[in-house]
Amino acid sequence: MVGEYDLVVRGGMVIDGTNRPRFRADIGVQAGRIATVGDLGGATAREILDAGGRIVAPGFIDSHTHDDQALFVNPGMMPKVSQGVTTVVTGNCGISSAPMTTARPLPPPFNLLDLPDDRSFTAFADYFSALADAPPAVNVVGLVGHASLRVRAMGLDLDRAATDAEIAEMRATLRQCLAEGAVGLSSGLVYPPAAAAPTAELIEIGRPLSEFGGIYVTHMRNEEDFVFDALDETFAIGRALEIAVVISHHKVMYPRNFGRSAATLPRIREAMANQRVGLDCYPYHASSTMIRSDPALDDVRVIIAESGPHPECDGRELAEIAAEWGVKPHEAARRLQPGTAVYFTMDENDVRRILAFPETMVGSDGICVGKRPHPRLWGTFPRVLGHYSRDVGLFPLETAVWKMTGLTAATFGLKDRGTLRVGAAADITVFDAATVRDTASFETPTEAAEGIAAVVVNGAVTLRDGVHTGARAGVPLRRA
Ligand code: ZN
Ligand code: CU
Repeated sequence: MVGEYDLVVRGGMVIDGTNRPRFRADIGVQAGRIATVGDLGGATAREILDAGGRIVAPGFIDSHTHDDQALFVNPGMMPKVSQGVTTVVTGNCGISSAPMTTARPLPPPFNLLDLPDDRSFTAFADYFSALADAPPAVNVVGLVGHASLRVRAMGLDLDRAATDAEIAEMRATLRQCLAEGAVGLSSGLVYPPAAAAPTAELIEIGRPLSEFGGIYVTHMRNEEDFVFDALDETFAIGRALEIAVVISHHKVMYPRNFGRSAATLPRIREAMANQRVGLDCYPYHASSTMIRSDPALDDVRVIIAESGPHPECDGRELAEIAAEWGVKPHEAARRLQPGTAVYFTMDENDVRRILAFPETMVGSDGICVGKRPHPRLWGTFPRVLGHYSRDVGLFPLETAVWKMTGLTAATFGLKDRGTLRVGAAADITVFDAATVRDTASFETPTEAAEGIAAVVVNGAVTLRDGVHTGARAGVPLRRA
């Protein structure tokens, strides 16, 4: 049937991603864009989504992902689409698929990316054109990883500051990537490939961010005892370059630091008075990263998500493995490297306080490797909507949606995304406010959420009645 619209989403309550109260409206879509927000009772359309009794929101933007390779390996992107996510930001924590060296092996934490040996995007433009040629189901925003620049310029000789010549090369590479559409630079200063980089190295490499209006996104040097020093370093980089900074997955780890978010958030608030600062957070009190063999972690509960040398240990508790082997947990961890693991290092009250901080964006930090990944990969967005907004009452549903749409789009400069308004790209998520919930747990982490009814990406219905349609309408999003 020919209609006035390609698609009409009818009968829902619209939460438009601006943090204002919901209102009753239909949405008309034409050629991948929102053409009408209003009463479309009499309109005809090629396809109609009945949203009666449900919430109609902008598609969610996952502000922090390691989906660089998952987009090719699993282009349907069900872990994200099933949560209502329509756009992912890749290249976080200093590790991006592009621009990447062809040399192997790559040091941890590059294993978080699951980058195959035979695939290297030596130029950022190659990464985006590969995505355009083999489109995934979601849109992609790309950050350039500082550690990726480092291995490209310095090989495996990473345990030192970069030389002036290396910095010049990294700066030129970053400038080229920004020209090709990257939104900014990410760092993971806690990780071995970047830990030896002084603040000045970041500033000197980051110069082109000022020219291009790029953003600096950081997994800070410290998220425990020295978290304030790390915040100061982050703010200093932002001020030196006169750019916006984003603090990744803000947290304070280990019992001796529990409660300190009551002080870090006011410090962030204070900085916001003088410079642009953003932050993101995932809604869980456990973290996940490469397997670490630090004796200080012997008292922490650890689940091995995936071990390269010991795949038979995937999904098991580190304490059990260590007891079986008759060694301390850190020694067992050393034997299990390289791999990924889940660490119960946070306090629930800090997680809630950080998540409820008005400017905190939602980002999954999902890691797509291993038999038993952290449940944030499949559960983050419905957990914020269902558990934290509806059940715990941390904030209204409108605020929850804003933290995963409009706020994120504004932070990353995605001008056509994140709000439901005429002219915007038709990225839409329809969900049931009463039933939406995460079902992925630490025990069964790869379960799809409940209550996400439909997902539309660039006008293409990608999830209908909770089932993936096979649509792959995602596009790379270049910096505006
Ligand atoms: Zn990180
Ligand atoms: Cu990360």
